[in-house]
Amino acid sequence: MNGTTVDEKRLARDFDAIAACSECDPSIGYSRPTFSPAWRRARDYVIAQAQSIGCTVWVDAAGNVHARPATLPRDSTAWLCGSHIDSVPTGGRFDGVVGVLVALEALRTAPDAPMELIIFAEEEGTTFSLGMVGSRAWAGTLAPEELQNLRNSQGLDYASAGVAHGVSVERLAVERLRPERYRGLIETHVEQGPGMWNAGVSVAVVTAIAGRRQYICSLAGEANHAGATAMKDRRDALAGAARAVSALEDLGREMARSQEAAVVTVGRMDVHPNSVNVIAGTVTFTIDLRARSDEMLAHGDESLRNIVSRIAAERRLGCSLSATEELPVVQLDKGICSLLRDAARRQGIDAPDVASGALHDAAILAPFLPTAMLFVASKGGISHNPAEYSRIEDVACAAQIVAAAVSSA
Ligand code: HGY
Ligand code: MN
Ligand code: MN
Repeated sequence: MNGTTVDEKRLARDFDAIAACSECDPSIGYSRPTFSPAWRRARDYVIAQAQSIGCTVWVDAAGNVHARPATLPRDSTAWLCGSHIDSVPTGGRFDGVVGVLVALEALRTAPDAPMELIIFAEEEGTTFSLGMVGSRAWAGTLAPEELQNLRNSQGLDYASAGVAHGVSVERLAVERLRPERYRGLIETHVEQGPGMWNAGVSVAVVTAIAGRRQYICSLAGEANHAGATAMKDRRDALAGAARAVSALEDLGREMARSQEAAVVTVGRMDVHPNSVNVIAGTVTFTIDLRARSDEMLAHGDESLRNIVSRIAAERRLGCSLSATEELPVVQLDKGICSLLRDAARRQGIDAPDVASGALHDAAILAPFLPTAMLFVASKGGISHNPAEYSRIEDVACAAQIVAAAVSSA
């Protein structure tokens, strides 16, 4: 592989630059909600860096950014490398950003490699209520009209909010992913779990991604006076939701006894009218279910449906539960996993295999392109939190592996 070696200091400057683009107060976290000024500053930083090394850059109709060396025609076959720069609210400096900056650094150090950088849009799903929107819309697993139904907290839909950033519902079909143009996808990401850090492992090859099902559940009781309503006369939606959250946590613990990676999370709850002296009339909350097998996902799905309907019936509450996402477990491409393992070995690194509990755009593209991931260790496994940390030397090592892998095959 001709070119230069990975430059840790340059990578560190990139991370500082992206952090500086973010809405950030290090004590509360780094935020780059999709289509926000912070997100756009970060995206423009990466675009400027890619252009400064002679790349051609374009934005597809789903809002994903692509960059290829000017010497690599858009219709020729290339590796796809990248991740996302949108973040969860008050997130960290590394989630998603690692994969984009590893791809950027690989472009810098292996300018002749047939490689295209990608920044997927709205991976987190915390701005428009569905994860991996950019990759789904590009791959065609999300219908164009769906982009007009996904709304942010201001009520703006993805299609309208995204127009200023290159989104075009009309162009989606003609700009859909052309698998024949890609050798495969390599996404580098932080592990977001403690396994690698605790084992003293810097980089690992990801062979599978957990399946995920997400839901929105609403419980409807009767708003009433907190002081004048006897306990026996209440239909308290918040007390019901509290029972449900506790029972869902118990379900997660029960599932984890047979499959440690099985998890159930209630991360968001809206209470109405949310007042100190009013018995809650309605409560809406999210449920996030993940597991390493489709059987365990099916078990979790059936169990959580029973839990919320039982509690609603016991408490005379209305109950609606709708699935907002259903993603199966994804096995990643054995050939690309071997390529990454061999490239690591050539750097003198024995990269073990791991599976991902977190979801990634790689899971969306895997049915269309040979896909694999490289993980970088996360300190203490912390993520979606400003304390998120990975060693720059581990990120540099991953960049070296990716540059070697895309140059070797
Ligand atoms: O939720 C996830 O697994 C990822 O961080 N979007
Ligand atoms: Mn991520
Ligand atoms: Mn994330």
